[in-house]
Amino acid sequence: MAEEHINFRGQPRLPNFAVPRHYDIFLMPDLSACLFSGSVTITIDILLPTRFLVLNAADLSTDAASICLTTTAITDSISLVSTEVVEEDEILVLQFDSDLPLGQSLLRIAFSGTLNDEMRGFYRSKYEYKGEEINMAVTQFESVDARRCFPCWDEPAFKAKFKITLEVPSELVALSNMPISEEKLNGDLKTVSYDESPLMSTYLVAIVIGHFDYIQGHTPDGVQVRVYTQVGKTDQGKFALDVALKSLNLYKDYFAVPYPLPKLDMVAIPDFAGGAMENYGLVTYRELALLFDEQLSSAINRQDVAITVAHELAHQWFGNLVTMEWWTHLWLNEGFASWVSYLAVDAIFPEWKIWTQFLDETSSGMTLDALSESHPIEVEIKHANEVDAIFDSISYEKGASVIRMLHSYLGADCFQKALASYIKKYAYANAKTEDLWAVLEEESGEPVKDLMSSWTKQQGYPVIFVKMNSNKLHVCQEQFLSDCSSAFGTWIVPLTLCCSSYENSKKLILTSKSDELDIDDLIINKKGKQETFWLKLNTNQTGFYRVKYDDELAAGLKYAIQADKLSLMDKIGIIDDASALCVACKVTLSSLLSLLDAYSMESDYTVLSRVVSVSLEIANMVDDATPDLSDKIKLFLIKLLKTPAEKLGWDVKEGESHLDTMLRAELLMALVRLGHINTVKEGIRRFHIFLNDRNSSVLPPDIRKVAYVAVMQKCTLSDKYGYESLLKIYREADQSQEKVRVLGSLASCPDKSIVLDALNFLLTDEVRNQDAFHGLNVTNQGRKTAWEWLKENWEYISKTWVSTSLISDFINSIVSLFASYEKIREIEEFFKNRVKPTFERALKQSLETVKTKAHWIEGVRSDESLAEVVSYLAGKA
Ligand code: BES
Ligand code: ZN
Repeated sequence: MAEEHINFRGQPRLPNFAVPRHYDIFLMPDLSACLFSGSVTITIDILLPTRFLVLNAADLSTDAASICLTTTAITDSISLVSTEVVEEDEILVLQFDSDLPLGQSLLRIAFSGTLNDEMRGFYRSKYEYKGEEINMAVTQFESVDARRCFPCWDEPAFKAKFKITLEVPSELVALSNMPISEEKLNGDLKTVSYDESPLMSTYLVAIVIGHFDYIQGHTPDGVQVRVYTQVGKTDQGKFALDVALKSLNLYKDYFAVPYPLPKLDMVAIPDFAGGAMENYGLVTYRELALLFDEQLSSAINRQDVAITVAHELAHQWFGNLVTMEWWTHLWLNEGFASWVSYLAVDAIFPEWKIWTQFLDETSSGMTLDALSESHPIEVEIKHANEVDAIFDSISYEKGASVIRMLHSYLGADCFQKALASYIKKYAYANAKTEDLWAVLEEESGEPVKDLMSSWTKQQGYPVIFVKMNSNKLHVCQEQFLSDCSSAFGTWIVPLTLCCSSYENSKKLILTSKSDELDIDDLIINKKGKQETFWLKLNTNQTGFYRVKYDDELAAGLKYAIQADKLSLMDKIGIIDDASALCVACKVTLSSLLSLLDAYSMESDYTVLSRVVSVSLEIANMVDDATPDLSDKIKLFLIKLLKTPAEKLGWDVKEGESHLDTMLRAELLMALVRLGHINTVKEGIRRFHIFLNDRNSSVLPPDIRKVAYVAVMQKCTLSDKYGYESLLKIYREADQSQEKVRVLGSLASCPDKSIVLDALNFLLTDEVRNQDAFHGLNVTNQGRKTAWEWLKENWEYISKTWVSTSLISDFINSIVSLFASYEKIREIEEFFKNRVKPTFERALKQSLETVKTKAHWIEGVRSDESLAEVVSYLAGKA
């Protein structure tokens, strides 16, 4: 028997000789026993003669006697010969005694399972209701976990219609993708049936059952939108509801298709592996990504909620209505939803300069994609267990960034028109990357496919070296890798540049390795005005590439920054490129520090926020690289950040902008992390006032974590008062955002035994599994302790945090702290027999990050002018 199944095993995809058209699903969860039972009747279409049906199922007990195939064709009765579960492939192979008749059949299967604790499939989440801890039942199916709830063809291309019926305790709210069609009460239970869904993929099916309150609104065209929260907390849903209503309206116009379902529910789930999930018509969120409390939440919380809601709602079109044909095209979902979410948030909150903040996305995409262990945007998926690992900065941030690049190349109008026709053409169906390029090509007349394939089919991106010789610009591309190893990619690069003014600009396409550009027309005014000449490539950083200027051009840009000639995006791009080039040892640390000095007059959040992250990256490295100079380097960085921090002060000014509020928190936190005594002291002073009076205004949510980290930095074994007070605040906090602020500061302590205590706390029942990663915010001082702790507890950790994103966080947060080749060998040795597909990619990437840092340190040690430059910069008034 097994031999006959052999060709179904280890396959990336299910055979498609039979396809599902309709699912009738019945589920009955037992919320106290954490069990469920159910049945599914699937209308299937047999397309080719076969004796087999192969579908997905995992962690389910299927009752073989219940399996029944009813064919509509009049044939001799067909009986089931065997059912086999192939655990490693999560498939169920049904063999019949003769070929199944072509056309429609009904396959019925009864099954049962456990409401698990893994935050995937059909799971339970714990919450407090009327003073008691109870369970709710929730689903999370993306990417490949619908099969843990009911047997199904669990691949995005097998779209079908779903008709769901639940039997649940009558006092509970029971939600699914569609509105309720009928509710029948029978004793303590009720049977709830929902309308049939439109054609959709299995990973978007959803169910939520528990006690909830809601608030609601309607879009102008009558779509009912609700935010469900824990009982009594609907106020916290108001902000998200407002963003949802506005986004839906905006997307309807942008995609030129109305929201396809009659209702949209959004629910906050207390235990949730990711940030949010775009289930069709029933979007689920972790609490801190949906709920906003006017008193307890911060400006950054507000922005995160807006971006998350806008992202998930964009998926209702991009992802749900038009779905990727296979996981190779995941980026079509995630890259697009990310990009579009900025479009929506920019329209709703123009004062947030969200497109300038978007450069954070580009930068994190570039950081990951500068590793040899990166992958192309379009990535081959050979097995279902590889899918979760590609929900990473390549699919999201690089994906979104190359879309921005194309958008800027083709122009907003043309791009929008093409997207609208793409959505119309593939609605209720599936599409591949090339289908999108074809539509864009038709609309624009440009060779979109060739241009974009160079960005989506090969990993990495180029650094463009620019040199100027009289009026000729020499450009040359080379693949950018952080550890400086060589690679041979070439890209079709949409180049933009401007010269001494944004009016003076040029656009062209670089198709070869190198080129010489005549820019005579742009630099007429170079002569005689030598000192004010500057040339910037990649105007407003719309391209996904870095630029390395020759010394003369670099000096011109430094002048332009100081003289405030550049856009915010360009100022960000220059420092971001320089710092990445420094890590890759292509720019010296002394030049990077001198460049940072040019930002000393800056006051804008978006730019300073990048200056802060570059500063902290340097500060973290110099302890290892040049301990003798590290204090002086930090002194310089403190000086750089102190001026704008002092301008803002600690207290919120009336009517101040969203961005200034966020800037204050970033600057003060950076000063604390750099060890600036007065900031640390002031943080501690405010903490004590706050501790005695939680309503005091000295520590608003925006700067609370600054004070928490300051307290932890001064905490010692003999004086653990600060640590214990923070635990008390954690225990008393009723709001996820506040709990996360505390968790994120506990390990920021120089004392190793306190770090160990803080890490052990993460493994207790007091911290939800979804939140533990926030507590892995260890500093260099705690990294050895953290690594020993990780090894010691690995068995428990790897069993408890099974989802790719969460287990990868443990590895990334701890492994990436190191900066030496010896440590790489030690870590590799430890994981040699422990590695699993879920975190293999994360481990390799973290190790490569360590290697990059080790290499950077060598580069910094050979920087001969460093001591002199640092003395000069640190000593300057
Ligand atoms: N589709 C994802 C959710 C998801 C992520 C499912 C990983 C399976 C694996 C959702 O749309 C998403 O992208 N959520 C983000 C938040 C968003 C604002 C970027 C998340 O969960 O972090
Ligand atoms: Zn998404």
